[in-house]
Amino acid sequence: MRKPFKSETWPYSPKPTAQPSVKQCPSTKQSFEPTTLRPLMYHPIVQGTGDKLTVLITREQIAAKVVEMGVRITTDFAGQSVVLIGVLRGAAIFLADLARQIDLDVSFDFIAVSSYGNSKQSGEIKLIKDVDDSLEGRNVILVEDILDTGITLTYIRKLLLARQPRAFKVAALLDKVAARKVPAQADYVGFQIPDQFVVGYGLDFGQRYRNLPHVCIMETYSDGN
Ligand code: IMP
Ligand code: MG
Repeated sequence: MRKPFKSETWPYSPKPTAQPSVKQCPSTKQSFEPTTLRPLMYHPIVQGTGDKLTVLITREQIAAKVVEMGVRITTDFAGQSVVLIGVLRGAAIFLADLARQIDLDVSFDFIAVSSYGNSKQSGEIKLIKDVDDSLEGRNVILVEDILDTGITLTYIRKLLLARQPRAFKVAALLDKVAARKVPAQADYVGFQIPDQFVVGYGLDFGQRYRNLPHVCIMETYSDGN
């Protein structure tokens, strides 16, 4: 007889699955496990673009860190609900992974900003998309892909603090501490990285590479495409 539906789904105890068979990438001939790594990232040069990338933080390191960050947030906000506000577009992947490591009542919202001209010089930020919901009295965690000059965070923090949240915290996967132009700090930081341009795991170069599973340093880039 079938067990009741509820006991099958919660608490969740997955059955052990068979080990995936090792496969070979047709282009690079390198071996990979289909459920863990895509072969693309064994390549130092991403084919077809002329850009040269090297892996800085692997997907396994990211995954372990995201678990840690989720545990800390779960502990800090035990018994409460939180709203994660993702900064589009770079934080989308980090938010999706982090949210699933937070064992609380979680909701999502999103905000989008852009810089006027070169914000590194001007420091001017423009709001493209505001959050949809009221933040008054809520525990807000702003989810950022990377803290660089700190200009974006400073702008968003001021904007959202005016909405009178109960708590306002910042979770940033990456922190280029040496690149700061204005003082800015995250409460939950994944990795401190050198002041080099990185792509992958949500971060882009001209909208490309957000889907790479690792965080990679962009060593050189082509201007052709
Ligand atoms: P900030 O205002 O200078 O702190 O910049 C934050 C934003 O700049 C991030 O949300 C990213 O969108 C972008 N950014 C800064 N550094 C990098 C990088 O190394 N790669 C990709 N995007 C970056
Ligand atoms: Mg961004």
